[in-house]
Amino acid sequence: SKVTVVGAGNVGATCANVLVANNVADEVVLIDIKEGLAEGKTMDIMQTANLLNINTRMTGVTNDYSKTEGSDVVVITSGIPRKPGMTREELIGVNAGIVKSVTDNVLKHSPNAIIICVSNPMDTMTYLIHKTSGLPKNRIIGMGGALDSSRFKYFLSVALNANPNEVDGMVIGGHGDTTMIPLTRYATYRGIPVSELLDKATLDKVAADTMVGGATLTGLLGTSAWYAPGAASAAVVAAVLHDQKRVIPCSALVEGEYGENDICIGVPCLLGRNGIEKIVDVKLNDAEKELFAKSAAAVRNTNGALAS
Ligand code: NAI
Repeated sequence: SKVTVVGAGNVGATCANVLVANNVADEVVLIDIKEGLAEGKTMDIMQTANLLNINTRMTGVTNDYSKTEGSDVVVITSGIPRKPGMTREELIGVNAGIVKSVTDNVLKHSPNAIIICVSNPMDTMTYLIHKTSGLPKNRIIGMGGALDSSRFKYFLSVALNANPNEVDGMVIGGHGDTTMIPLTRYATYRGIPVSELLDKATLDKVAADTMVGGATLTGLLGTSAWYAPGAASAAVVAAVLHDQKRVIPCSALVEGEYGENDICIGVPCLLGRNGIEKIVDVKLNDAEKELFAKSAAAVRNTNGALAS
């Protein structure tokens, strides 16, 4: 199996590192437009091969898409990240051009690949790929909910003073500070609803911290985060490549699901070798439905900027 990661910056290189360190694929290609960057990151990562017992082959290339030939999965992380104080939506002008040209290049050499879009504003970039590539909708996956859900589970685990691995929870809706929807009502710790373990004020704080989770890190780091984004991207790759049939919230083209149409937005997706094999219908109450409709309206509004 072969995975290409486009963009050897913070998120792309971390994703490639997690893929390689966990032997997720036989071969990983890292590609970037910046001369030498992917080659350098590849050399650094492969110099851990002996230390980490890595069996994956990894190649780094500068903009030579022939090396990506026949990839099963392609992760697109190319584009500018946000700086402190910026929203993801502000990145659209620069990143739309990058994502469009990268997708064209990728598909020339890997016409059967499943595409995982990470570049922001992610829901809109995923929609752009739908509109311009002609690929069936199951083969285009937006990575956002995997990260936001992992952040949600982290903040819940801190509030519970528990191991994050024993916490379950999902974040759906748009991948934006004000558009994502942590589904607190469905979150559990060892199968027990967290609403039975934490008071409402604490749960509200966890949800609020989750929503600005990325912005908090951007403030602390001076640029956008990478460890969790890279690992979340790698988790989506593994779910597809290994046909895991895991349900992970991803940005998918909705055609009536959750009452919406003609946008890509975070919904629980059953992931397997065919990409998004099913959108899972989690029952929302009226308040959650209202949040989802608002989130969809915001995503649709950002999509509107693609035309201009
Ligand atoms: P970065 O600046 O560290 O890396 C981006 C890389 O893309 C750079 O190395 C740059 O040379 C490369 N690049 C630019 N144009 C290219 C092209 N045409 N072809 C190939 N490579 C190209 O940025 P970082 O932190 O890795 O973030 C990447 C993107 O991912 C940003 O748009 C960021 O907002 C987004 N992101 C999305 C997340 C999500 O949950 N969906 C989470 C974190 C970041």
